[in-house]
Amino acid sequence: MRTNIVHIGAEELTYEIRAIVNVGQKLQELGIETHWENIGDPVAKGEEIPQWMKKIVAEIAMDDASYAYSPTRGVLATREFIASETNKRGGAQITPDDIIFFNGLGDAISKVFGFLKRTARVVVPSPSYTTHSSAEAAHAGDRPVCYRLDPAHHWYPDLDDLEKRIKYNPAVAGILIINPDNPTGAVYPDDILIGMVELARKYDLFVICDEVYHNIIYNGTSTLPISDIVGDVPAIAMRGISKEMPWPGSRCGWIEVYNGHKDPLFEKYVASVLNAKMLEVCSTTLPQLALPPLMSHPQYDSYLKERVKRYEKYSNIAYDCLKDVEGVIVNRTNGAFYMSVAFEEGALNHRQTLPIANKGVREHVEGLVNQESISPDRRFVYYLLGSTGICVVPLTSFVTDLQGFRTTLLERTEDNFRKIFHTIAESIKQYLDSDR
Ligand SMILES: Cc1ncc(COP(=O)(O)O)c(C=O)c1O
Repeated sequence: MRTNIVHIGAEELTYEIRAIVNVGQKLQELGIETHWENIGDPVAKGEEIPQWMKKIVAEIAMDDASYAYSPTRGVLATREFIASETNKRGGAQITPDDIIFFNGLGDAISKVFGFLKRTARVVVPSPSYTTHSSAEAAHAGDRPVCYRLDPAHHWYPDLDDLEKRIKYNPAVAGILIINPDNPTGAVYPDDILIGMVELARKYDLFVICDEVYHNIIYNGTSTLPISDIVGDVPAIAMRGISKEMPWPGSRCGWIEVYNGHKDPLFEKYVASVLNAKMLEVCSTTLPQLALPPLMSHPQYDSYLKERVKRYEKYSNIAYDCLKDVEGVIVNRTNGAFYMSVAFEEGALNHRQTLPIANKGVREHVEGLVNQESISPDRRFVYYLLGSTGICVVPLTSFVTDLQGFRTTLLERTEDNFRKIFHTIAESIKQYLDSDR
């Protein structure tokens, strides 16, 4: 090329949650049975969509209007429905014009970060859901600016660390909160959330709060929507239907803008995000049309409740399997459907192994782990995959130096779920013992 065509942020675009699938598929070809615990898609893991939901969607698909473009911000009746639900909660009040629909939150995330001024940074959690951290880092063409989630304190944000990142980095213009969190499964208590908003107010920042899992909370925990505590701080909440409905294939999510007119720069920035959407015309129409009838259906709440109850039960099975294993820090998941397990510092080295019976699989794994730069947790993840077929994601791929792995709680069959977590626990012990 006579001129460099590579984007300044190209190096920052990684998504290990899907990249690990290539390794899993290769090992599957070599003869192992794979358990995919890497990706947060309830439908791919066997969630059955109830008949009443399918019927509503099918009826809408019979209406020609569902094949048309929709307004750039999104279908008006749907935005009215959402604004009224948000306003009912009290807290920050919005109009339908404070809502913009996207093709899934993935699209919202890429535009919200992509249209920030290049030198303005949003401080993101570490570990961090990579779609956020990669999009933020790519927009700046630099490594993400992170605040610490503390595995020794339920994976809650470390407010002192957050304040330091803001104070000593004048480029920071915003704070990203993911609550409930992916990849940790943490649900933040009110005082932590209030502390984060206070920091935004003190340093004149805006807040982005990803609340895609807001209705998937359990084990007696509760949390506040950001609209309840934001006061006069400019903020964006991100919500969607991928996880709670669950309908990830709909590619449908939205942002709610609070205090959109209180700061002229924030107002201009939000307008640029809307204009970016306008260049694309609009987002997927059919799921927007389906949203109000689905969410107000008499069986919607009970269907969601039943799933949440299962995640609660499985979060406890997983926690009980892993909590007494030496060498790892384990927190019970209280929201969403992920669990992050961190190895204690120094627990992993490059000599530990797990037995792999299949020669072809063993040789392939050995080839992968013998690369110079492989992180210790990735090495564990490859051995776990080769030895047991369980596919999880290395924690270091979520922008953290903490070694560990993220798994999901989505396996539906209880016997299989118990077997998987029992096997993970035994494999951790065996792996750590292999070099003692
Ligand atoms: C915290 C969080 N935000 C956003 C998304 C993306 O959601 P969508 O399917 O709407 O793109 C995910 C998907 O896993 C997620 O975990």
